[in-house]
Amino acid sequence: MARSLLYAANWKMHHGPAAARTFIERFLELTRPAEGRRLWFFPPAVSIAATCEAADGRPDITVGAQNVHWEPKGAFTGELSVPLIMEFGARAALVGHSERRHLFGETDEQVGRKVAAVLKAGITPLVCVGETLAEREAGRTEQLVVRQVDAVLERVPSAEWSRVVVAYEPVWAIGTGRNATPDDAAQVHELIRFELGRRGVKVRVPILYGGSVNKGNVLALLARPELDGVLVGGASLEPEGWAELVGMGA
Ligand code: PGA
Repeated sequence: MARSLLYAANWKMHHGPAAARTFIERFLELTRPAEGRRLWFFPPAVSIAATCEAADGRPDITVGAQNVHWEPKGAFTGELSVPLIMEFGARAALVGHSERRHLFGETDEQVGRKVAAVLKAGITPLVCVGETLAEREAGRTEQLVVRQVDAVLERVPSAEWSRVVVAYEPVWAIGTGRNATPDDAAQVHELIRFELGRRGVKVRVPILYGGSVNKGNVLALLARPELDGVLVGGASLEPEGWAELVGMGA
């Protein structure tokens, strides 16, 4: 069986509804669904509906939110619940992206609650984990990543991991142009799988790599069987470049 790969675009705070629509229209002209290749887009929340509408009819495309709150409703000014993003058409959600953790103080516990809420609603969480440069230099990568995974396991029992996707994104590699080597990435992916297995997760959880992925390094990264795809910020912002990147490695 051919290998299945997932290419996820994290647009962060770029592309309003009009730009998102234009992007997807162009991207659809440039690509065709490919066997074993899934394409995920995480636009800003205000652009989820436009992205879904533009991508309608392309079964290989899933649209998700960049963040959610864990409660289904309530007095949480400025937040979006899972049911709300689903009303826009989202069928996945990024949880615990390092920018959420480090710039907005999201805790391991909140990440766990969010993953549980996303699963409960029947859509797919893409949970991000990864160490900072100081943690890597102190030799604490494994400890840190395992702590982040354990915080999710506290809220999501091992039997429920069949719909979870993980992204390993070392914080020092995000938006810095400095990416982990394929060996660095593969080693941490293997560690995450081993630790999940030890804790009773029986399924093979897909793990993406993220952090300065681009057309120049994606092939070497995806050559490693430990990687099931990539989560990409900067290099996903132009339809031509992104179409070219997702055409590599599959
Ligand atoms: P980058 O971002 O590709 O721009 O490094 C990746 C991410 O933050 O998900």
